[in-house]
Amino acid sequence: MQKWVVANWKMNGSKNLLNEYKKSFKNHKKLIVCLPSIYLGEPSGLILSAQNIHQQLKGAYTGEISASMLVEFGVKYCLVGHSERRQHFHETNSDVRAKAETCLEANITPIICIGETLEQYEANQTTEVLERQLAECLPSRSGFWIAYEPVWAIGTGKTPTTDEISEVHLMLREKLPNTILLYGGSVNGDNAATIFAIPNVDGALVGGASLDVAAVAVILKHAR
Ligand code: PGA
Repeated sequence: MQKWVVANWKMNGSKNLLNEYKKSFKNHKKLIVCLPSIYLGEPSGLILSAQNIHQQLKGAYTGEISASMLVEFGVKYCLVGHSERRQHFHETNSDVRAKAETCLEANITPIICIGETLEQYEANQTTEVLERQLAECLPSRSGFWIAYEPVWAIGTGKTPTTDEISEVHLMLREKLPNTILLYGGSVNGDNAATIFAIPNVDGALVGGASLDVAAVAVILKHAR
């Protein structure tokens, strides 16, 4: 089955990059693009994801964006609990759960990010950390996706071994048999084929490489 590719621009990109995406990937059925919110309103023909959402439905939360606003602009997905949100914006597991619930109520699919830090990885605590994150982040109803992103693999050029990814994804599949499971962390045109071939990996969450249209095209080719 064709794998999903979720492109996360983070706070990068431009109208120019959006135009390149439109030219290259308009109407692509398996590419989801997590745009900075200011670009989500541009008609693009792309499957859109937000990078964050506020858990409250509306109110005095200056600078934030609500679920109903995303829905108005046809946004179908939202990243929730990305490690950068946890690290720089102090999002907790309970915030992540609240945001995921808000998404599901609005018919937006939350892509819930989990992953261990380097310190936890080196202490052999990966399974334990992921289990705790699942216990504390997962909403009460189904319909969410999970992205396994080891924090130490994000933007570093380092990835776990295929055995390590395989082990985590098997654990996730056993707990969440009907959930789309993505791997993220330094996915690029060179390693995408290997990562897509790992059992129980339904797709990839791609950060840095998503800023290069040629690299995205290569990743999409391997996703077929
Ligand atoms: P990366 O980022 O591909 O640059 O490692 C992945 C992510 O943060 O989602």
